[in-house]
Amino acid sequence: MNLEEIRSQFPITRHYNFQDHAGIAPLSAPAAQAMAAYAQELAEWAYLKGTYHRTIDHVRQAAARLLNADPDEITFVKNTSEGINYVANGIQWVTGDNVVSNAMEFPANVYPWMNLEHRGVNLKVVAEENGRIPFDRLAAAIDRRTRVVAISAVQWSNGFRTDLVRLGELCASRGVLLCVDAIQALGVHPIDVRKMGIDFLAADGHKWLCGPDGAGIFFCRRELLGHLRPSEPGYLCMKLDWDSRERKLEFRDDARRFDSGAYNLAGICALGASINLLLEVGIEEVQRRVKQLTDRLVEGLNRKGWKVCSPRTSSEWSGIVSFASDKHDLPNLQKHLREEFKIVVARRLGRLRASPHFYNTPEEIDQLVDALPGH
Ligand SMILES: Cc1ncc(COP(=O)(O)O)c(C=O)c1O
Repeated sequence: MNLEEIRSQFPITRHYNFQDHAGIAPLSAPAAQAMAAYAQELAEWAYLKGTYHRTIDHVRQAAARLLNADPDEITFVKNTSEGINYVANGIQWVTGDNVVSNAMEFPANVYPWMNLEHRGVNLKVVAEENGRIPFDRLAAAIDRRTRVVAISAVQWSNGFRTDLVRLGELCASRGVLLCVDAIQALGVHPIDVRKMGIDFLAADGHKWLCGPDGAGIFFCRRELLGHLRPSEPGYLCMKLDWDSRERKLEFRDDARRFDSGAYNLAGICALGASINLLLEVGIEEVQRRVKQLTDRLVEGLNRKGWKVCSPRTSSEWSGIVSFASDKHDLPNLQKHLREEFKIVVARRLGRLRASPHFYNTPEEIDQLVDALPGH
């Protein structure tokens, strides 16, 4: 697909120079069409055609390809928080256990762990340093009572990317489980749960995957499926068919053991359509384009005297570029960019945050740089 064809899959390009995929991304056209088709079919045929459960299986397979996982290690969640809570509430904790995390995490990856305090589980928060989570500090925080390291693949505020291969090796060597919040990476950086030694992963679809909110993915490594107790049991997670008078609390063997009741079918169909688009382009190619665009942006920001707050080394960069100024009124500037120039960026922790995706153009990056005041 050339750039023009890719852009035709993103109707937002008709209205905005949109560079906030780390916030809530626009739906891709295939995702919007999948939702519309679902609604149409539901209106005309209810569930009588009976095709949607097959569609869900296809989406599960696409999600598994995206992660290099097996389809039966994947299920769908309503958001990232739900997946993280499956882990936090599913482990058989012993008083005195701890979880190692860090001070940069988005709250979705903090509160599920803080909530374990009443069960005697301590959350150890490693301090950040210059917008990074130092690997050695994480390693030093792991002790013999650490059960889980909980971390984002990419940090929401400044885009610092975790070296998951290295961290996965560390966790495996120390007998600690690795739980990854992947929402700021999935769809732009290759994530390979095997190569990275990831035990659990959760990501909603509404950022770099360009799906709707409320439809996400949860991965649990096969060997751990039986160790994580499902915390929201319903009728779809049981071995026994629900159309029976019998009741037997026996969970399925695959990741659907974490399901409860009805699925968000519209959302899952749309998520699947976007994942397929990304897989068709290729995640390596998506990443290559995002690198070029963000490098161009960083260069422009440096030229204009803005302070770039995102680490940019080869193992740390991501699609998020955060930049600061103590000279300008950032709330007003953000508003001005949107209203005058149709450029959408976010403001987080007192900085501007741009997060262009693979369908953005170098010209759009230049428009942003040109529209920013100098120093
Ligand atoms: C790192 C990270 N995790 C999670 C979320 C959102 O969580 P959820 O999918 O539960 O809404 C965000 C949203 O900004 C995020 O940046």
